[in-house]
Amino acid sequence: MTDIYVSPQVMESQKEYACRVREIIKEKYSSPTVFLRTFGCQQNEADTERLGGIAVECGYTLTDDEESADLIIINTCAIREHAEKRALSGTGQFKKIKKDRPNTVIAVCGCMAQQEYRKDQIKNSYPYVDLVFGTDKNHLLAEMLYTVLKTGKRQYYVSGLSHDKLGVIAEDVPVLRSSDYKAWVSIMYGCNNFCSYCVVPHVRGRERSRNSAEILKEIKGLIDAGYKDITLLGQNVNSYKGDMDFPELLDAAASANGEYRIRFMTSHPKDASDKLIEVMKNHPETIARHFHLPAQSGNDRILKAMNRKYTREKYLETVKKIRAAMPDVAITTDIICGFPTETAEEFEDTVSLIKEVGYDMIYTFIYSPRPGTVAAKMEGHIPHDEQVRRFKALSAAQDEISAEKSKSYMGKTVKVLSDGNQEARNSQNKIVTLDKDVPAGTFVKVEITETKAYGLKGKVIN
Ligand code: 5AD
Ligand code: SF4
Repeated sequence: MTDIYVSPQVMESQKEYACRVREIIKEKYSSPTVFLRTFGCQQNEADTERLGGIAVECGYTLTDDEESADLIIINTCAIREHAEKRALSGTGQFKKIKKDRPNTVIAVCGCMAQQEYRKDQIKNSYPYVDLVFGTDKNHLLAEMLYTVLKTGKRQYYVSGLSHDKLGVIAEDVPVLRSSDYKAWVSIMYGCNNFCSYCVVPHVRGRERSRNSAEILKEIKGLIDAGYKDITLLGQNVNSYKGDMDFPELLDAAASANGEYRIRFMTSHPKDASDKLIEVMKNHPETIARHFHLPAQSGNDRILKAMNRKYTREKYLETVKKIRAAMPDVAITTDIICGFPTETAEEFEDTVSLIKEVGYDMIYTFIYSPRPGTVAAKMEGHIPHDEQVRRFKALSAAQDEISAEKSKSYMGKTVKVLSDGNQEARNSQNKIVTLDKDVPAGTFVKVEITETKAYGLKGKVIN
């Protein structure tokens, strides 16, 4: 499959649309502002920063006051039903704003909006939403806004393309970064894995990788601009396919001069290679000692039903290699409990997996059927009460493990990056509460004086 780059002509035309929007809104509003709300994952956060960048190019300034905003963009998530409910009720909150200020333009985009039936639902039940667009249309925001403002009519840009056609790569989109020391860098978009429970391939389309030269240029620009914590993003970074593979890209990114940390997420366990582990090992300062490796389940039959393409044994082997190469690495994971047909005994395999690995942190999710996925059509859905029981059992087991992990930091000296307000993060991404204020975006050394399950306390060493 070839990647689909948006042509420079299209990107150029977007600049012209931005100028036209600028002209219109200058007349329409006294000082046009945009309010951005994001639901969901880091990929969505990164997308919102690009949408904000385009809005600024169109002449809006960012506001955190939704009541007075002239443009409201709601970037939605579809990963679980709960996420969609939040996004819909989040959208509902803007009804009153539209009533009080009818000139406000309200846009809904992101993974939820990408689904036809959700687009129809918004069209029919949320009449105050002016613009709905799917994940592959973000780079066309200026043009879409222009059409809404010019025609005064509601507009819908949800392609309904099949996943193998869905998705493009747009370079040179302006970015409005929300931090001046932490940055997201998307290296690839979409996913080809089709885990049986997951909606992502359906709403973000097939995998496509950015050009490595573009990515490395962006990273170098960030480091030169003083960014300290850079996260490379992709649904499955290990299947990055530019003119180099992911370990080579990471190696190049971590070889720049300067004091910074590179993180990446997410890695699919089936593709976490020896080469990747080697690169991480070789850059202890510039690559964070953190590996997020979603296991989803500890039972082979369930892993197969999830279409994860690895076994428990294979997964544990990878964990062992990671730990052998980097004894101080933090390993975190995602777990789904109550997947269709999962028996109580099979669930116990997941509990034993988390004990065996000894994760620093787990993110546990109750299985949520997603329309259009294979698992949603399976028989044997688990009652909600039982799902909740399993969820709680996992959390309780993990609390103990995390507390043990944290204890191992007692008395140690660690380097942390301050987030301001006496909070910081170490290389393992653990939150460290500091004994005094350190400006955000500064690295300092601290001595750990107290440990809790999910956090550490430290004394700043001058
Ligand atoms: N139900 C529950 N959790 C899900 N995830 C993805 N799809 C679903 C679903 N249908 C979880 C997985 C994934 C994380 C981002 O969200 O654990 O790794
Ligand atoms: Fe979803 Fe699986 Fe792709 Fe992750 S790898 S986005 S869980 S389909």
